[in-house]
Amino acid sequence: MIDSFLYIALPYVAITICIVGSIYRIRKEPMTYSALSSQFLENNGLMWGSLPWHIGIILILLAHFLAFICPDVWQKLLSDRTVLLTVEVLGYGLSILCILGLVVLAIRRLTSSRIQAVTTVMDLIVLFLLLVQVGCGLMIAVQYRWGALWSTGTTCQYIWSLMTLRPDLAYIQDLPHVVKAHIIGAWLLILLIPFSRLLHLFSVPLAYLTRPPQNVVWANPRRAETSNEIFIREESRRHFVLAAAGILFGGFLLVVGTFDKIFQFFFGPRLSADDETRLMHEKLERLKITAEQRSLEVERRESRYIFVSALKDLSEIEGKYFIDFDMRPGIAFKGKDGLPIMISAKCTHLGCTVGNKLDDQGRILCPCHVSYFDIVTGKPNDGAPAKAPLPHLSWVLMNKTGEVLVRYTPGKQSEGNLAPDAIAGAGVYVSKEDV
Ligand code: HEM
Ligand code: FES
Repeated sequence: MIDSFLYIALPYVAITICIVGSIYRIRKEPMTYSALSSQFLENNGLMWGSLPWHIGIILILLAHFLAFICPDVWQKLLSDRTVLLTVEVLGYGLSILCILGLVVLAIRRLTSSRIQAVTTVMDLIVLFLLLVQVGCGLMIAVQYRWGALWSTGTTCQYIWSLMTLRPDLAYIQDLPHVVKAHIIGAWLLILLIPFSRLLHLFSVPLAYLTRPPQNVVWANPRRAETSNEIFIREESRRHFVLAAAGILFGGFLLVVGTFDKIFQFFFGPRLSADDETRLMHEKLERLKITAEQRSLEVERRESRYIFVSALKDLSEIEGKYFIDFDMRPGIAFKGKDGLPIMISAKCTHLGCTVGNKLDDQGRILCPCHVSYFDIVTGKPNDGAPAKAPLPHLSWVLMNKTGEVLVRYTPGKQSEGNLAPDAIAGAGVYVSKEDV
């Protein structure tokens, strides 16, 4: 009962109040839905508190959002150990940044008399809740490692079940208390949005991103000169900071990746003696297969002919694939005259292997980008991506005693004769001399 209230009723109530309350306040009190900046009253503490807090929390919530919106992609991404480790380490760093920021902001509110004058009880409640929320998040990350991964099958599914109006507590029922506290904390914070400064979430000045930069132009020529100098200096510093941040981030990823590899090398999982023996057996089997293939290759290179098929087994509509001496694929058909047609199976467009079944127009299809080739002329159809014809290949017909009955070389007349009684015993071969 209490679970249904905390994890089903509370989220729906919180989200409804958040939406209705925020719209109401934005419409009725449009001047109050900002963060009500206190920068004029105190600047230093604000910078050291607000900046780390916002950088940390925006990135962390972005990661939460990504995991929730596309859990499958997120899971695939994190299935790489290095990425997972990077995300976790980044999470720790960002959480600590958030906590430091929040502590500075809290000290500032509690110690500066000027800030105290504009601080409400709600401000302190929100600060406290945020501190607890981020603290719980960090505890989850540290105590129940790889939360970025296991959350895709638990908390993310729970949120989806809420969003699709089919709430299912089974996803979170067995999770540790700290995770449950983290979830409840999130709903409470969402509930408080319309009643606190958190409403400024909806007044993010996105228009500033596209607004052209503004340079203050002074009428006084001396001030204009210094203001221009300052502007240029500020711009250069901004570019420098951006470039340095990019390089640092890249370097950081590199260091994490390298350390992960070193860590795996020294402390990664070791194979048991049994597993090692099994692995060696597998390697041995693979070596045997490779050795067999090599000896076949040698045999093939040493022989003068490669057997393709018995002539009687060739078909007029379904060709037989073979490999020639140079390991190029070919297809053998039986022609209308009863003699073989042997044609290259390597598409003249981008080299895919062409299909071996004739269509009703006597053509074979390269499925990669749809080129049809006539097997008698070798030519592709009009408008096909392939422009050159498939070359025909030479062949010989031999009887069982190895006597050459007919020999064919492309572009020439076939030599020899095939007596009707020899057809049954004739074999089709690729001849080395013809390669
Ligand atoms: C106001 C909203 C929220 C805030 C400010 C917040 C903040 C945080 C922080 C700071 C962390 C630590 C990140 C890390 O060190 O990796 C964290 C982790 C986590 N949060 Fe939240 N969170 C919020 C909402 C939620 C919600 C609604 C859920 C799920 C229902 C959730 C689930 C988790 C989980 C599973 C982790 C562990 C991630 C890991 O181990 O890397 N959070 N959260
Ligand atoms: S590779 Fe055959 S059509 Fe492109």
